[in-house]
Amino acid sequence: MTTIPVIDFSKLDGEDRAQTLAQISKGCEEWGFFQLVNHGIPVELLERVKKVGAECFKLEREEAFKNSTPVKLLNELVESKKNGKVENVDWEDVFLLTDDNEWPSNTPQFKETMKEYRSELKKLAERVMEVMDENLGLPKGYIKKVFNEGDNNSAFFGTKVSHYPPCPHPEKVNGLRAHTDAGGVILLFQDDQVDGLQILKDGQWIDVLPVPNAIVINTGDQIEVLSNGKYKSVWHRVLSKPDGNRRSIASFYNPSLKATIAPAPELLVENKDIMKKEMELTGTTYPTFVFGNYMNVYNEQKFLPKEPRFLAVGTI
Ligand code: OGA
Ligand code: NI
Repeated sequence: MTTIPVIDFSKLDGEDRAQTLAQISKGCEEWGFFQLVNHGIPVELLERVKKVGAECFKLEREEAFKNSTPVKLLNELVESKKNGKVENVDWEDVFLLTDDNEWPSNTPQFKETMKEYRSELKKLAERVMEVMDENLGLPKGYIKKVFNEGDNNSAFFGTKVSHYPPCPHPEKVNGLRAHTDAGGVILLFQDDQVDGLQILKDGQWIDVLPVPNAIVINTGDQIEVLSNGKYKSVWHRVLSKPDGNRRSIASFYNPSLKATIAPAPELLVENKDIMKKEMELTGTTYPTFVFGNYMNVYNEQKFLPKEPRFLAVGTI
């Protein structure tokens, strides 16, 4: 069976460093998704994150989900006895944690735990980005520097806490519709038990099987542009499931909205022939743009192919 690579991140520091770099390189180039184990985030912290996540859903979210739009639309479809699927919604409960917005406050230990988790995950994201710098032949810290461009323009680090409650008609609604991620590096702490995440590989949907306490890494559209297409952002989706409430906590290390994103000059030269072929095939090449402008386009077109987004944002 085909599965995305599972990589022991601790081996980066030992005699297997070269092999580990190569595994990550392959994960980025051929898959766009890989799972890290022995990533250095204490298991004890991950256990606490699971606990406060589940408690927060029960205490502060579950009741509201019962009256949410996806539930209403699915009920209507079932009662109408029509075939087909509920479009334009996702069967998920979701909220965002950043340094600036308000967090759920009625769940004991939620804030403390998630603050600690976010700080650990941000460090892991920066380590992973340094590995990408190295594998791409870029100066150490290149990606981080681009994402944190200028004074007072620090990168955006957000954490999306999602639950996918059991769905009585999973064939009639998506957990999360297929998309590629807009930003930089995404680090996902998915459920140990309930699966549902799939990636599109060579025209086939492949399950990202739960590996307890692993962190799933994937790259978004900005890494695709910066790497000049070497690391493609990959389509993925979440299926809704009849049993179990799937937890997924996705942290995004994205550029500042003011950062200018462009293919790294080093990679433009190296990949000239490939780019030429690609341009002939798709009619596009990667533009240079301000990330905030890209997000304006993305917010309108998230569930559509990315190539028109690159065209729509235009080059500066
Ligand atoms: C996302 C995403 C996957 C998941 O938030 O962009 O793809 O498992 N999440 O929730
Ligand atoms: Ni995604």
